Amino acid sequence: MRVVIMGGTAGIGLATARRLASDGAEVIVTGRTQERLDAAAAAGLTAERLDGTDEEAVAAFFERLGEFDHLVLAFSPGPVGMGPIRETKIADIRAAVEGKLFPYLFAAQQARATGSVTFVSAASARAALGGMVGLSAANGAIERVVSPLAADLAPVRVNAVSPGVVDTEWWSFLPEEQRSAQFTAISASLPAGRVGTAEDVAEAIRYVIGATYVTGTVLPVDGGFTVA
Ligand SMILES: NC(=O)c1ccc[n+]([C@@H]2O[C@H](COP(=O)([O-])OP(=O)(O)OC[C@H]3O[C@@H](n4cnc5c(N)ncnc54)[C@H](OP(=O)(O)O)[C@@H]3O)[C@@H](O)[C@H]2O)c1
Repeated sequence: MRVVIMGGTAGIGLATARRLASDGAEVIVTGRTQERLDAAAAAGLTAERLDGTDEEAVAAFFERLGEFDHLVLAFSPGPVGMGPIRETKIADIRAAVEGKLFPYLFAAQQARATGSVTFVSAASARAALGGMVGLSAANGAIERVVSPLAADLAPVRVNAVSPGVVDTEWWSFLPEEQRSAQFTAISASLPAGRVGTAEDVAEAIRYVIGATYVTGTVLPVDGGFTVA
């Protein structure tokens, strides 16, 4: 089984790559930072430098690669476009959407995946959280397009895995103390009693990749965030 994970050199993507590689899959991870790519290669993954927002490079990458089994899209522009709507520039909200929605769609369009495409969206897509218009717009659109894409790309399956708060470097924009206080408060509000790990989400991605009767679905992996 050959799997491509775009945004696979850290966080959720890397945990998924490790999990699938331990099952015996050949995993190709992509990212932009050379040190992360080197670390992934040292861990036995095939690592290729590729900016997921660079359409020319992404098209050339998939052309070179030819057919493979599964595509996982796990990159994002990070915490851009966050903040109360009246204090947030539309350009930043645009960057949140353009840095994730269109690159995910472009990759899904170009990739010669024969088995499945899995998007990593976010629980903010379905929540009423203040300051989250940018992330909700990007991830809400991604979750909405899963079902028509599953129809368009059939028999290739298309799903999204939708994490809640996951302890990864995505949160490194917050100083350690603030991040830890925020995670403690969030943990107390969740049925699961803790924030997620990258491995929690990797396990769900592994499931949808292997579940041959599951397509057009959004799988929340959020510790109960959306029911709390
Ligand atoms: N962490 C959370 O709480 C959380 C919650 C809900 C949803 N999510 C979603 O889950 C996904 C993964 O997040 P994460 O927490 O694992 O983030 P992360 O730890 O910051 O990892 C992001 C990965 O994507 C790569 N990347 C970033 N921009 C890229 C680009 N333009 N092209 C190619 N690769 C790129 C990064 O490497 P380089 O920077 O070296 O390129 C890294 O490998 C994202 O879509 C995020 O929105 C995360």
